[in-house]
Amino acid sequence: MEKIKNYNIKNVGEKVTINGWVSRLRNLGGVVFIDLRNRSGIIQIVVKPDNKYYELANTLKSEYVIKVEGTIVERESKNNKLSTGEIEVDAEVLELINKSKEIPFQISDDTTALEDTRLKYRYLDLRRESLKNNFVVRNNITFATRKFLNNLDFLEVETPVLCKSTPEGARDYLVPSRVNKGKFYALPQSPQIFKQLLMVSGFERYFQIAKCFRDEDLRADRQPEFTQIDVEMSFVDEDDVMTLGENLVASIFKDVKNIDIKLPLRRMKYDTAIEKYGSDKPDLRFNMEIEDITDIFKNTTFSVFKNVIDENGVINAIVVKNASDKFSRKDLDKLTDFVKTYKASGLAYLKYQSEISGSVFKVLSEKEINDVKEKLNIEDNDLVLIISGEYKVVKTSLGALRCKIANDLNLIDKNRYELLWVTDFPSFEWSEEENRFMACHHPFTMPKDEDVDKLLTDKAHCYSKAYDIVINGYEAGGGSIRIHDEKVQETMFKALELTEEDIKEKFGFFVDALKYGCPPHGGFALGLDRLTMILCGTENIRDVIAFPKTASATDLMCECPNVVDQKQLDELGIKLK
Ligand code: AMO
Repeated sequence: MEKIKNYNIKNVGEKVTINGWVSRLRNLGGVVFIDLRNRSGIIQIVVKPDNKYYELANTLKSEYVIKVEGTIVERESKNNKLSTGEIEVDAEVLELINKSKEIPFQISDDTTALEDTRLKYRYLDLRRESLKNNFVVRNNITFATRKFLNNLDFLEVETPVLCKSTPEGARDYLVPSRVNKGKFYALPQSPQIFKQLLMVSGFERYFQIAKCFRDEDLRADRQPEFTQIDVEMSFVDEDDVMTLGENLVASIFKDVKNIDIKLPLRRMKYDTAIEKYGSDKPDLRFNMEIEDITDIFKNTTFSVFKNVIDENGVINAIVVKNASDKFSRKDLDKLTDFVKTYKASGLAYLKYQSEISGSVFKVLSEKEINDVKEKLNIEDNDLVLIISGEYKVVKTSLGALRCKIANDLNLIDKNRYELLWVTDFPSFEWSEEENRFMACHHPFTMPKDEDVDKLLTDKAHCYSKAYDIVINGYEAGGGSIRIHDEKVQETMFKALELTEEDIKEKFGFFVDALKYGCPPHGGFALGLDRLTMILCGTENIRDVIAFPKTASATDLMCECPNVVDQKQLDELGIKLK
């Protein structure tokens, strides 16, 4: 493969042969200029009227495949936007290898084509340089991963894709069995059970770059089919796994982007992350921490705050520094609508300008307004945004507002990477839907030593040896120490109200395996797609997956999912409703 990108003024005089696609064609004053593109870049080719291939050059069109032999010469008018902008190739031989139909959209990095059109012709979309570069980054990440883990004696082991339901908690994709009619395989939501079984097998250090499948609502950072860098280790505790995980991530950053990540990473307990940032994946590239100002309103006469306090709720605020003048009434109404989508009942604000104003200015006492000022170290032109209500709602909505404002006001340095571990997740979360406590991770997550005795008596205050690695507000990975003690496992099942039959049917084989000399073990999985997004600086997960699905989980190019032949259904013993 010719490395077009490497050619520059120093190569003038060299003979080259280049294969590629016609990116752009111009005929200026009788001279044909072709922008020739291949995987390694773009270079200008010149075909002059006295060239015996001149006629051929004039018939070329966008995306025709050609081969050019010629000499690198210095350009008269240079293009400093292109790495090869100081040179061009004076064509001596031009060969048309293949023609192309007229393309449905222009292949350029600043394309305005709709994403749906680009996804339908994904193979053309992937010709765009910016998109192609994402796959170079993705390749470099997996390469760096394999290098790092191999050096530390990790074995790369593949695990089944046709398997039994795994315990990750999303909805499964099911595959009907022809041989065993009426029975189904589930596609793995992660290799969780298999990697733990490999620890029982004595593999001690395993990894896999594994495809995972989850039928869940899609978001900008979620696909139904995605890839994990999956790791498991024996004879380890939380510190060992987190140290290994952060060293892996740091070596990926170094190898792929030459960025030095300072280790050890900071660690923050889940409860603190929620309290200060309203999220279990706090973006630490900017401040604007959530402040508790409930105390100030203990004796308030303002009925809204008074009622909240009476009902054991909280009053919290964020301060947007030097920004009062940037927010009109209309802007603040929009922010109110925004926080309502997070179930907040409203958004109050105070503008501390030379004259104080705001939605709650008239209903609060002078002392309250001054106490807020003092407590939050308010300076001139600061804007205070306040939400009152139930703890979790207040935190979540202010956490989301904090990120929105930082984005809207461009407060985030896009070249900065803030990594941390969020630790000590609760073991259980309350499910309104099910009206009971459910496992926060999966039922094999080890509780904190001091909480084992509380599993059956105080679920709301049980924490686990689980940790997530967070980068710039993304959950880039997560894992835990697993339960290897039969007694603790039994208690956990009991806490989750799983019956003997449930356990036997869902993961009887697995629970059985844990009885045959299971070593203490733990691990984690990094979301490869998310890590690639972060290192490519894109917020769209489809930009880092070659053939992604849309938000409604369809592939517009292959047109799948799709109907199947009656014969196929008959073979599987399936009748559609
Ligand atoms: P978890 O469910 O946290 O853990 O997944 C690990 C990481 O995978 C990524 N991820 C996703 N990426 C894209 N699209 C999705 N739909 C999606 N879902 C998850 C995230 C996440 O942090 N078995 C455990 C790991 C373990 O305990 O070792 C697991 O799968 O970056």
